[in-house]
Amino acid sequence: MSNWQKTTWRDKPRVQMPDYPDAAVLGAVEEKLGTYPPLVFAGEARRLKAHLGDVARGEAFLLQGGDCAESFKDFSADAIRDTFKVMLQMAMVLTYGAKVPVVKVGRMAGQFAKPRSAPTEAKGDQELPSYRGDIINELDFTPEARIPDPAKMLQAYTQAAATLNLLRAFSTGGFADMHRVHQWTLGFTDAEDAARYRDIAARIQDTIDFMAAAGITADTTHEFSTVEFYTSHEALLLEYEEALTRLDSTSGKWLAGSGHMIWIGDRTRQPDGAHVEFARGVQNPIGLKCGPSMTSGHLKALMARLNPENEAGRLTLITRFGAGSVGEHLPRLIKAVEEEGANVVWTCDPMHGNTIKSASGYKTRPFDSVLREVREFFAVHKAEGTIPGGVHFEMTGTDVTECTGGVRAVTDEDLSDRYHTACDPRLNASQSLELAFLVAEELTDRRNALAAAARAG
Ligand code: PEP
Ligand code: CO
Repeated sequence: MSNWQKTTWRDKPRVQMPDYPDAAVLGAVEEKLGTYPPLVFAGEARRLKAHLGDVARGEAFLLQGGDCAESFKDFSADAIRDTFKVMLQMAMVLTYGAKVPVVKVGRMAGQFAKPRSAPTEAKGDQELPSYRGDIINELDFTPEARIPDPAKMLQAYTQAAATLNLLRAFSTGGFADMHRVHQWTLGFTDAEDAARYRDIAARIQDTIDFMAAAGITADTTHEFSTVEFYTSHEALLLEYEEALTRLDSTSGKWLAGSGHMIWIGDRTRQPDGAHVEFARGVQNPIGLKCGPSMTSGHLKALMARLNPENEAGRLTLITRFGAGSVGEHLPRLIKAVEEEGANVVWTCDPMHGNTIKSASGYKTRPFDSVLREVREFFAVHKAEGTIPGGVHFEMTGTDVTECTGGVRAVTDEDLSDRYHTACDPRLNASQSLELAFLVAEELTDRRNALAAAARAG
């Protein structure tokens, strides 16, 4: 990688990063973090990259999901377990629809830093710096809480390490047994209001019964009882990222040791900016958020910087335009990718373009808008003959009331009941699973399209 070092981002224009008041305190934290072990191993990141290469070819499907912002206050084993659990349920339903493996990536174990649309926030006549995630400052609306504190990076590291440890234990320790996962899903479809999903659930049950009869069970087959689960977050706070970046002795390449996959946000993707500079030099799979302002020129410049060797699985384009706008924006990006002959994964974030303020004053997202953007994403890829590779959700396994709609309808009035997010509204467990069933229907269609394309040669 020419002229790249883990520090070269420091010479580039940076946006959305805090100005720490005390450089000496910051330096001491960076130095300490630099001595801590990385959270992930380079071989794991390479393996994820290979799986994403399969996704790019339509031989796998990507499910990425988790909190908008992980929080120090809501950190608990139950919360991690519940989100992991609902992601496994979703993955099972999606696997059934797509008939290809589902690559599971959590927005977990590092998703702490948040870009904001405004640098300050006002309440009444008081104006304070915006909250930027628990790794930077605090949500409380007081001047002290909003001062960026470098020591929070150490707490975030500790929480990420503990989260990842539990995820690894759940992945291999028996929790992920396919029978258990399916039993949970049946619990959801048993309810009166979710009856329309019972048919798919019954067919999954039949398949599991058939395999068990043929001797394929958790006892005999590793794939039945364990899962591969990867972590990801937005690489926004570059001091934290740099401190955990290490040289991988097996490949001689650099690795962002903070998580398996990192992404660049829609507000920090300037081709000559600090965030792109950092990401281009690490070997991890990279995500790139693409909102309505992404031009084909930007995208071409970014692909050249971030994936100059056109490596499969290296670059995932996470499109987020808003329901009703996919047809306007996605085709030009697809055209840019085709013109460059670029290898990318196309995935849909139907959350960030669909945030509205409810009548009751809460920031929310209607389930129907989320679903509509996903459907438009599939429809445009079908029309263009390209591959819809995955979905990216802000979600939690906890029974929150943050997004409206779904079969177990959350109404505007319900939002105040359990509105816990530190940042954007998340789908709750029931809404997440319901979406998986609806995406599975789209995937059945994708499967037919891919098969027809293969027959046509
Ligand atoms: C996010 O994923 O939480 C986010 C801020 O997204 P975007 O950069 O697409 O707005
Ligand atoms: Co968000």
